[in-house]
Amino acid sequence: MTLKRFMKLFDVYPLYDVTPVSAKGIEVIDDKGEKYHDFYGGHAVISIGHSHPHFVQRLTQQLQKMAFYSNSIQNPLQQELAKKLGRLSGCQEYQLFLCNSGAEANENALKMASFHTRKSKVIAFKNSFHGRTSAAVATTDNQKINAPINQQQKVDFLPLNDFEAFENCIKSNEHCAVILEAIQGVGGLDEPTTDFYQFVIKKCREHDVVVIADEVQSGFGRSGKFFAFQHHRVKPDIISIAKGMGNGFPVGGVLIHESLKPSYGLLGTTFGGNHLACVATLAVLEVLEKEDLITKATTMETYFRAKARELPQVKRIKGRGLMLGLAFDFEVGKLRKELIYSQKLFTGGSANKKLLRFLPALNITKKQIDLFFEGLRNELNKMSG
Ligand SMILES: Cc1ncc(COP(=O)(O)O)c(C=O)c1O
Repeated sequence: MTLKRFMKLFDVYPLYDVTPVSAKGIEVIDDKGEKYHDFYGGHAVISIGHSHPHFVQRLTQQLQKMAFYSNSIQNPLQQELAKKLGRLSGCQEYQLFLCNSGAEANENALKMASFHTRKSKVIAFKNSFHGRTSAAVATTDNQKINAPINQQQKVDFLPLNDFEAFENCIKSNEHCAVILEAIQGVGGLDEPTTDFYQFVIKKCREHDVVVIADEVQSGFGRSGKFFAFQHHRVKPDIISIAKGMGNGFPVGGVLIHESLKPSYGLLGTTFGGNHLACVATLAVLEVLEKEDLITKATTMETYFRAKARELPQVKRIKGRGLMLGLAFDFEVGKLRKELIYSQKLFTGGSANKKLLRFLPALNITKKQIDLFFEGLRNELNKMSG
C-alpha cells in the first residue's frame, strides 16, 4: 500500500489556536461560534472595521463588473483614487504609483530615490521595520530576517533623535535616501521628535538625499492625522502606504513628490492598481471622510489614555491616535495569550516585548474601549492575585 502524501504549509508562523470565520466591525466570530473583540486589526490593517457595509457593497459591485486588467489600458478608477487621496491627505503635489504591499511600496520608494540621486546607500533607524523583500528588508533593523543576498545593500542604522550621528553620517554624500517611520510600528512606538524630523529634512535637502516617510502602518488616519509625519509639519519626498489603505484588500502605493519625474517603464507591476484594489481604497477613503474617522481617532485616543491611567500596572502610554501601546514592567506574551483565550480579545505585540499594542478599527466606540479595559483589568488582577 502506498501512503498518500499531501502538501504542507511552509511553517513560518507561530499561530494562536483560533479560527475566525466571520467578522463585523471589531467583532470576530470563530468556527465554534465564539465571539472575540479585535483590538489588533490584523496588525493595523482593518481601518474602517471588518466587512464595513460600504466596503462590501463597493467591492461586490466592482467584482460583478470586472476584477482586473493590467496597467496597459485606461483605468479611470486610478485617477479617481489619486484625486481623492490627494484631497483628503492634503498631498495634491504628489504623484501616485500603486502596488500591492508595504514592502513593495518601500522597494519602489528606495528604487526611485536611487534613480533620482544616482546613489545607493541608505540611512535607516534602529528598531525600524520596512518589510521583508530586497532593499526593504535591508533597511529593516533585524538581522534575523536579512539573508546574505539582502545584506549586499549598504544601510547605515542610526539611533533615532541623535542629531550628531545623523549629521556625521549624511555628510559622506553617499546616501540616496533616508527612510523613517514617524511612529515605529513593529519596533514599539518610538518616534522622531519634531526637531529631529525637521533636521533630517533640512540635511537631506543640503546633501541631495531623498526622504522616504514609511506610512505603511501609521498612514490613512491611524495616528489622528492622515499621515503621521503631518504631526511634525514636514514634507517628505516620497510616502509609502499600504495596510489600512485597503481594509484587508492587499494594496500598497507610493506618493512621489512632483519634483521626482516619471518616465515610461521606470516602475511597473502586473497587479498594482487593479480595479478591485482601487475600489477597496476608494471605499476606505469614502468611509474615513463620511464618518469623520480621523477626528474620531483623536477623540478615542483621549478616552483610551484616561482609562489607561487608571491602571497602576501601566508604566507608560505610547503612540498617537489609534496606534497606541501600554508599556508594562514585564513581558506581555503570556498576557496577550490570556487576553485571547480567557477574555476573547485580540491585541498586538512588538519588538519591545513589554509593550501591549492597541490597533483597532478607527470607528471603535467608547463602549468597546471599556470592554478592552475590563478584559485587561481581569487578567492583570489574575496575575497579581
Ligand atoms: C512600517 C511598515 N513598513 C512596511 C511594512 C511591510 O508591509 P507588508 O507586510 O505589507 O509588506 C510593515 C509591516 O508591518 C510596516 O509596519
